[in-house]
Amino acid sequence: MKKQGTPRLRAQYRCAECGYAAPKPLGQCPDCQAWNSMEEEVVAEESKTKVSRGLADFSSAPTKLSDLAGEGPVAARSATGIAEFDRLLGGGVVPGQVVLLAGPPGIGKSTLMLQAAARLSPALSVLYVSGEESLKQVADRARRLGIKGGAITLLSETDLSKILAAMDELKPGLVVLDSVQTVHHPDWPGTPGSVSQVRECAAELLRTAKGKDTVVFLLGHVTKEGALAGPKLLEHLVDTVLYFDTERHDLLRVLRARKNRFGPTDEIGLFEMAAGGLEEVKDAASLFVDSAGPGTCGRTVSVAMEGSRPILAEAQALVVTTRYPLPRRTATGLEYNRTLMLLAAMEKHLRLRLEDKDVFVSLAGGLKTGDPAMDLAACMAVLSSARDVAMPADTVYIGEVGLLGRVGRVPNLEGRLKEAAKAGFKRAVTPASGGKAAAGRQAGLTVVPVATLQEAAENIDGHKVVDTGTIDGHNA
Ligand code: TYD
Ligand code: MG
Repeated sequence: MKKQGTPRLRAQYRCAECGYAAPKPLGQCPDCQAWNSMEEEVVAEESKTKVSRGLADFSSAPTKLSDLAGEGPVAARSATGIAEFDRLLGGGVVPGQVVLLAGPPGIGKSTLMLQAAARLSPALSVLYVSGEESLKQVADRARRLGIKGGAITLLSETDLSKILAAMDELKPGLVVLDSVQTVHHPDWPGTPGSVSQVRECAAELLRTAKGKDTVVFLLGHVTKEGALAGPKLLEHLVDTVLYFDTERHDLLRVLRARKNRFGPTDEIGLFEMAAGGLEEVKDAASLFVDSAGPGTCGRTVSVAMEGSRPILAEAQALVVTTRYPLPRRTATGLEYNRTLMLLAAMEKHLRLRLEDKDVFVSLAGGLKTGDPAMDLAACMAVLSSARDVAMPADTVYIGEVGLLGRVGRVPNLEGRLKEAAKAGFKRAVTPASGGKAAAGRQAGLTVVPVATLQEAAENIDGHKVVDTGTIDGHNA
């Protein structure tokens, strides 16, 4: 711990979640209600005035927008050439953009940034500041990644005043700070990594970045529970918040934009960690589909949208007789309440008796989506399990299902059909409204338009799965 320059110190407690300061340690934060989030920090009484409130200072006189609108060309984006990364950024980084890249330790933040910095480096001169690793460690990683690094300057430093001095001297176009939790400013109160230090350092970097049009990436660790010392405090400060996490039982690394002032927030970037660094997963089509053979009951395939990207998704269902007075329902990867609604709609409109059945519905491969276009596939998977009849393996089911049992249209049906055709599917059961049969034909699919759940259920490979006369299914 650094010695403070001022003798008058006092302790105070600050919430790691929301930054609420209290003179006493409290079990629960009165502001954000988080438990055990109070961290002790040392505050210098005199230096209080020197410390900013954590807000960037862009103050100006009131100015007419029309006076500004024509000023200069629209800032050009610098693309990294890593398509999965650029798509999240809306095409590339903008001068002066400050990005928070957060994720659990070991996910590959340093690797991703080094790879991105190397791609940006001839166009933007790069200052890579590591507060966690020695120069040798960073250089070793660069060698492993096959990066020569002509325009990359490395700095192993945790003192913000020295980092700012290096920025002054080198005038880099891109600064990577790995990680924001390790930096501290010796003149400011608090230990490195404390809430006040993290926030003040980030705010100071932000001011510098905006003043000099420097792109800044702040890397930050989150714990498995998703807490990051100060991430919530930083989220409103920075322009873009990216979260890096694993999916599909740790095989896949997924980058998501939580906030983006210069681009979309609904995109995902998919990566795999390989021996030579992070590799883009371009063909995501079949990642979330299990390779169960034909004839398996209780599964159907659909095409969900993750941002602008169609992804094949497999709905799985298990319907069994319950042993409890209250039948169980679970939904994994799908919204629980929506799944309950779908089950109710099926009971009503397909006369499917589920009141004495446990129903488990999930998406294969750990996929999570709120895309209502999965509704029809989820319903057909449930029906397939309840009736013990396998759904045709060459068919995708795409459509939203409403309370009235009607199959409603979904956005980007054409893109979804194309993706299904690319993956080798032959038929698609789609909403009748929207009239996109032509799109399906173009993609080489037989499109079966259906208006209701019942029509969809009757359309399974010729055999009638729903017999409205008999009510019970024949399941285990
Ligand atoms: P790292 O980028 O250090 O993670 P973070 O900065 O998020 O803590 O990378 C973490 C893991 O990636 C580490 O366990 C080693 C592994 N790795 C590879 O498998 N291949 C590689 O080429 C590199 C550089 C790392
Ligand atoms: Mg790291």
